[in-house]
Amino acid sequence: MPSARSKVEIGPVEAHYYDLLLNLLSLGQYSHLVKSAVARMGIKPGQSILDLGSGTGRNDCLLVKELGPEGKVLGIDISKEMLSLSRKRCQAYPYVSFREGRIDVPLAYQEEFDKVFISFVLHGFEDPQKRKIISNAYQALKHKGVFYIFDYGEFDLERLWFPLRWAFVHGECQLALEFLRLDLKEMLWGQGFAGLEEEFFLKGHLRLLKAIK
Ligand SMILES: C[S@@+](CC[C@H](N)C(=O)[O-])C[C@H]1O[C@@H](n2cnc3c(N)ncnc32)[C@H](O)[C@@H]1O
Repeated sequence: MPSARSKVEIGPVEAHYYDLLLNLLSLGQYSHLVKSAVARMGIKPGQSILDLGSGTGRNDCLLVKELGPEGKVLGIDISKEMLSLSRKRCQAYPYVSFREGRIDVPLAYQEEFDKVFISFVLHGFEDPQKRKIISNAYQALKHKGVFYIFDYGEFDLERLWFPLRWAFVHGECQLALEFLRLDLKEMLWGQGFAGLEEEFFLKGHLRLLKAIK
């Protein structure tokens, strides 16, 4: 059951406007930000990547460009509409596939992927579910595989420019507000990850957190 404090499950109508909404909210910066994050993931041709909560497939089309024809991307999402949008969007890439499923229950993948990516999804779960998702990423990664979390950074909401603060408080869920103060690194260490590194975007408001199995 999704938490009442979350907005991470996107409805069928909203799914169709999701990319447009993000473009507007980020003042046209979103594609550029994701491209910058993906460029820092050290993706090598032929690698395999699992994308948890793959959404409209925008990120998967970027990931696959770095992988070449020998690589593969598997996106998992709970929303039929998102899956339909992502399949259509990535249809030119036969080595990108999408599956319907929950990412906060045990997954079947064991040591199969070089990288696991999760973008703007983790903040929308209660802590026990976050731990389950992190544990799923750990299980799915090969030895020395890398987990990348692209999401909000730790920042003081009170210091945000008033219109942005208003948009964040009214547009985002309670769990996202709490995520700004969450010790995510502690959670990653607790699930067995090591070698944590972080890169910041938009003055630290967004973060790409890297954790090694
Ligand atoms: C905020 S969107 C992010 C989409 C994409 N990762 C991005 O960065 O554009 C959250 C996505 O997570 C999916 N989602 C929410 N809860 C989920 C769950 N329990 N299991 C799998 N996917 C889930 C939603 O359907 C949606 O596509």
